[in-house]
Amino acid sequence: MQRQISREQSRYLYRQVADLIRDMRENGTLRPGDRIPSLRHLAEKLQISVPTVKQAYEELERIGMLESRPKSGYYLTSFSHKSSTPRKSRMAKHAIAVTRQELVEQVHTAVHTPGTIPFGISNPVGALPNDKALARWTRRVMSSAREHAIGYGPFAGFEPLRRQLVLRYLDMGLSTQPEQLVITNGAQEALAISLQLFAKPGDVIAVESPCYFGILELIESLGMLAYEIPLCAETGISLDDVATAIDKHPIKACVFSSSITNPMGASISDADKQALVLLLESKGIGLIEDDVYGDLYFGQQRGKPAQCYSEKGLVITCSSFSKTAAPGHRVGWLLSPTLAGPAARLKRALSCSSALLNQWVLTEYLASGEYDRYLRQLRQVLYTNKERMRACILENDDSGLRLTNPAGGAVLWLELSRKTDGSELFHQALSAGMSIMPGSLFAPSERYRHCIRLSYGLPWSDKVEEALIKLLRIMSTLSQ
Ligand SMILES: Cc1ncc(COP(=O)(O)O)c(C=O)c1O
Repeated sequence: MQRQISREQSRYLYRQVADLIRDMRENGTLRPGDRIPSLRHLAEKLQISVPTVKQAYEELERIGMLESRPKSGYYLTSFSHKSSTPRKSRMAKHAIAVTRQELVEQVHTAVHTPGTIPFGISNPVGALPNDKALARWTRRVMSSAREHAIGYGPFAGFEPLRRQLVLRYLDMGLSTQPEQLVITNGAQEALAISLQLFAKPGDVIAVESPCYFGILELIESLGMLAYEIPLCAETGISLDDVATAIDKHPIKACVFSSSITNPMGASISDADKQALVLLLESKGIGLIEDDVYGDLYFGQQRGKPAQCYSEKGLVITCSSFSKTAAPGHRVGWLLSPTLAGPAARLKRALSCSSALLNQWVLTEYLASGEYDRYLRQLRQVLYTNKERMRACILENDDSGLRLTNPAGGAVLWLELSRKTDGSELFHQALSAGMSIMPGSLFAPSERYRHCIRLSYGLPWSDKVEEALIKLLRIMSTLSQ
């Protein structure tokens, strides 16, 4: 390494350092998603000053080849001149009925086929299975609480868990109380309850486009109509689009993931969230905030929940531990300062209460501080996987696809050539041992037939990379 840096050369030292990093990327010594040597370490190795290395890193950061991550250091990104993001789709003409349940059912069964590489399942925890700590807490709770832990729990949820959530919201700058929280069976039940609090069959619900298919399934099963508001891959939902939509259509409520969306991984600024809440509340429209990916951010800090900006109580926040700890525990919640009472009554009617043992175990896990330690590691692993997956796609694609660079979460959204049918690709990929999610699932209309969602919520390995390259070959054939 030392030999490549020379004070004799006329080139600035910092440029030589930048070239060195570039070379290491090109020859595979460093891979996208890898942490590069710290400023001090490299300065010592090369016997140059820390500010010189810093200047080199800042230069590479400016062109997008490096990213500095909070409290962690500098990372090599999947930067490529070839990279372009999916295009924003057009505004919908009107709200439509959703008919996606059958397709979701078919895809879901196939996606869980054992032995397939699960690019189709958004399971962030799969990237860093955390069963040891949870298994330990399960044993401890069972031995200390015994039969109490498997009895019926309180309808609105285990009080100590709600207190833990209050503390977490306080950290996000939101003052709340246990009585404003209702524990549910995953975020899905929280979303179902919230929709029923704001709307009835036949009412119009605004959704992001593309949007998580579970929300569309709910709208379908509740006999409501969906109005699609297109997302920009980089900046998320546009306030102007929301204003136009509510002006022209009788929208009762919106379901938006203000912090990190699924499948685009887009996020909006806290200032825009505030303006969004102000706009919706001024028109008496409810905002159902789906925040399941909020803790899985890659940037400097977590986005604030839109709930922080509510003045009239028309925001309901829905979230869960499914993406951050244990999807199988089915522990989620909803938060509303004004509607927690009716929500708790609906919850009681629907499913009585949520599994007490799972709530208890999660409470201890949170209180021990192990959950936060795990979350920090999980975010890091997901970030590395994201960069690896993007780099592998950008290096091996010859079809000119477009892909997202998500602000967090565990999935990439790919816009393929118009000739490619995502469903056909789904079947061919499955035969070749991989699952993917076809784009048609993510909107009530057919606008995403040529798109797919890929998950990097899995332990990254050469086998995964080989499968991805195989998938890209199938895509290439289908695009011709
Ligand atoms: C955006 C989004 N919201 C809600 C859910 C449902 O979460 P849960 O498993 O906690 O019910 C999911 C699950 O994939 C999701 O991706």
